[in-house]
Amino acid sequence: MISRSPFGDSFEYSVNATQEQERLTQFVKNSRKTVVIQGLGFVGTAMAAAVANAKDASGNLIYNVIGVDLPDEANYWKIARVNKGLASVVSTDTSLDAAYTTAHTNGNLTATFSPFAYTLADIVVIDIHLDIKKKQLGNAREYDFTFERYKEAIKTVAERITNDTLVLIETTVPPGTTEKVLKPMFELIGRQRGLNTSTVHLAHSYERVMPGKEYLSSITNFYRVYSGTDDAAKQATREFLSSFINTKDFPLTELHSTTASEMSKVLENSFRAMNIAFMQEWTEFAEAAGVNMFDVIQAIRVRPTHRNIMAPGFGVGGYCLTKDSLLADWSYSTLFESDKRLGISLSAIDINDMMPKHSVEMLKSAMPDLKGKHITVLGVSYLNDVADTRYSPAELFYDLCTKEGAVMQLHDPLVSYWVEKATSVHTSLDELARLKHDAAIFAVRHSNYLGMTADQILSALPGVSLILDAFNIISEATAQSLRERGVKVLGVGKGHWN
Ligand SMILES: NC(=O)c1ccc[n+]([C@@H]2O[C@H](COP(=O)([O-])OP(=O)(O)OC[C@H]3O[C@@H](n4cnc5c(N)ncnc54)[C@H](O)[C@@H]3O)[C@@H](O)[C@H]2O)c1
Repeated sequence: MISRSPFGDSFEYSVNATQEQERLTQFVKNSRKTVVIQGLGFVGTAMAAAVANAKDASGNLIYNVIGVDLPDEANYWKIARVNKGLASVVSTDTSLDAAYTTAHTNGNLTATFSPFAYTLADIVVIDIHLDIKKKQLGNAREYDFTFERYKEAIKTVAERITNDTLVLIETTVPPGTTEKVLKPMFELIGRQRGLNTSTVHLAHSYERVMPGKEYLSSITNFYRVYSGTDDAAKQATREFLSSFINTKDFPLTELHSTTASEMSKVLENSFRAMNIAFMQEWTEFAEAAGVNMFDVIQAIRVRPTHRNIMAPGFGVGGYCLTKDSLLADWSYSTLFESDKRLGISLSAIDINDMMPKHSVEMLKSAMPDLKGKHITVLGVSYLNDVADTRYSPAELFYDLCTKEGAVMQLHDPLVSYWVEKATSVHTSLDELARLKHDAAIFAVRHSNYLGMTADQILSALPGVSLILDAFNIISEATAQSLRERGVKVLGVGKGHWN
């Protein structure tokens, strides 16, 4: 079987469980503690690097680290890359690659498909995903959610850990999950296996990892919240987190229960999503009134109490902000049996999900018939300087324009293949220069786009007659220069341009 990675490399694999058990048993034959990380995705990849590079006061490595992922076509390449000393996420953070090289040289980081790894663990960190699916974009009140796959994955851990293993949940879960869903499961399986269930230590601590240039540092140099189901779990978590996080500058916050820690995560993301959504109606007001909203925001941000007022933009994407309020809403009504809903938070998700439609409407205000028009999208990832396209706002824009009959052309310096749309993406601006362009939208604040001059834009987009700046990417001077050369320039939140 072959597993292809987004880096372009591919790996042939076969799964020999006995050989793998022997290899892992040899790997942990030393005095270090063993940390097993379930899930080598965006979070697990960075966690594995951070933990593998942790050292004690004498400069000795503290842990053996084993990353576990699935032996299937879509995921095996993550295991294979880690075992070659390479990160399993496309990232602009060079320190992540360096951390993988170092861990590979030191020989204390490996990856496997084998759940046998959990039998060797002093600490298991759960970094797998838990999905919740909206039935339809624009109606966050209706979704499909089930714990079944997640519980199956956690069961593979519960069936193998030994007494006194710390199991640290980092997955974003509905508040109440650790106490009400996972703890009873661990206790039941523990009893069946003859474990002393008072030694099953469950904890929750959520990630604030930010893919991008500071990816690894966003784990090791940032604040953390945690809690545990008992004092021993809290203490073990505190010690573990302190061993690889710079807690001198970024002290830990212990909450009284895992439910509080879980709620903290989803509230934090709901708060941010709501602040972004709140700005959308004001953005549209500013556009109608001929006001530059970015100037207004700057004027307001001088007030210390208002520093984090959000700016207008193209849309909200990624795996977290688009779904975390739904997990909270599910918990409220199901785990805590309330007949109330988290209405404001769900409305914010709807506003954010539909935000790219505003850019389509703005485009159509200047180019009413998109049929047959060549529209170039600059940026398909969900965030600047990351390659992650999960739930990217570019998707709705792409779909709506395609429905209108437009010919879509895509560019992103970090994404060569857009998995969600099963289509290839140009990564070089020189390639774009060979295409026909009627209109273009700057959709992501990638470093490559910021500071582009009118000359650079026009040589990448020859013949373009309409440019939409959906994320405050083009400067006033560049917009003016483009206008002088016959290009119409519009901008989200830029009422003074429109
Ligand atoms: N991406 C972020 O920036 C971010 C930030 C904070 C929190 N989170 C949360 O962290 C969690 C993980 O997110 P992610 O972005 O890393 O997800 P991801 O989809 O990138 O990674 C999850 C990984 O788990 C693996 N996996 C699934 N089932 C498994 C199993 N049974 N055994 C072993 N591996 C298995 C998958 O193959 C995948 O590689 C989510 O709950 C997410 O909400 C993500």
